[in-house]
Amino acid sequence: MEALLEITETELADFIQITNNLYGLDFSGYAQESLRRRVLRLMKLNTCDSFTSFKYVLANHGVSDDYLLNEITVNTTEMFRDFEVFKFLKEEVFSILETYPRINIWHAGCSTGEEPLSLAILLKEQGLLKRSVQYCTDINSEALSKAKKGIYELKEIKEYSKNYLRSGGEFSLSDYYVAHYGKIKMNKELGQNMLFSKHNLVNGTSFNQMQVIMCRNVFIYLTSEQQNRVLRLFVDSLAPRGFLILGAKESAVFSPILNELEIINGKLKIYRKKR
Ligand SMILES: C[S@@+](CC[C@H](N)C(=O)[O-])C[C@H]1O[C@@H](n2cnc3c(N)ncnc32)[C@H](O)[C@@H]1O
Repeated sequence: MEALLEITETELADFIQITNNLYGLDFSGYAQESLRRRVLRLMKLNTCDSFTSFKYVLANHGVSDDYLLNEITVNTTEMFRDFEVFKFLKEEVFSILETYPRINIWHAGCSTGEEPLSLAILLKEQGLLKRSVQYCTDINSEALSKAKKGIYELKEIKEYSKNYLRSGGEFSLSDYYVAHYGKIKMNKELGQNMLFSKHNLVNGTSFNQMQVIMCRNVFIYLTSEQQNRVLRLFVDSLAPRGFLILGAKESAVFSPILNELEIINGKLKIYRKKR
């Protein structure tokens, strides 16, 4: 019978300290329960039957930092995720963006690139793609290299197509990719103004004069102290009257930084810098 793997609170704290000291990774802000589940999964993958043996693997650099990051961070994403947000951008925000000669957009925690691609499609349909620059950052370099390739599973496309139309897409999603052996490759044109870079929101530097920052489903992994620090980074990176979009389950309501932001749509977590 397979022994039940367990990990105590002290061991979890040990994991956080070792990965911080030896790998330079900071998992201290991650929600304890999901971190515990992911460490247990890592132990299993490395055929360790106790935390002590896993600690030995870690201490001897038996795994790479990218591997650790991949297993600990959750990269789940999809095209036109929460389509109401994209619909709102198209209907209410694009007309404001149209007034800028150059539109800077930061996708913070872009994962494998489905979010920037979704926005690129809508920007193209509005004739705004050529003057937009999409800065796509993530802490996970493996997710970023997937984003750069723009190749995805065909099986997801039915749902994505539905959400593209619900977002106000004007044609067919199939106009934007070619399918081949169960995969789809997104049209190159969509990625022509995307810049990818590895960036840790918790200790990273700010960007300049962003008209839009999308950071969805990333805050859930951070402590409220880290969230506040990241919000500061976002407000500093926004151009006057720039838009900040958080994930459906996230908000800036409890942060003192809120008084620098106006709530544009509370349900969709869309904020705007006051000045
Ligand atoms: C659940 S995905 C969300 C992807 C996309 N924004 C969406 O909503 O579909 C969370 C992403 O945040 C990234 N992430 C987690 N902590 C981060 C940090 N401190 N700095 C930058 N990215 C981080 C993960 O690597 C992952 O790709």
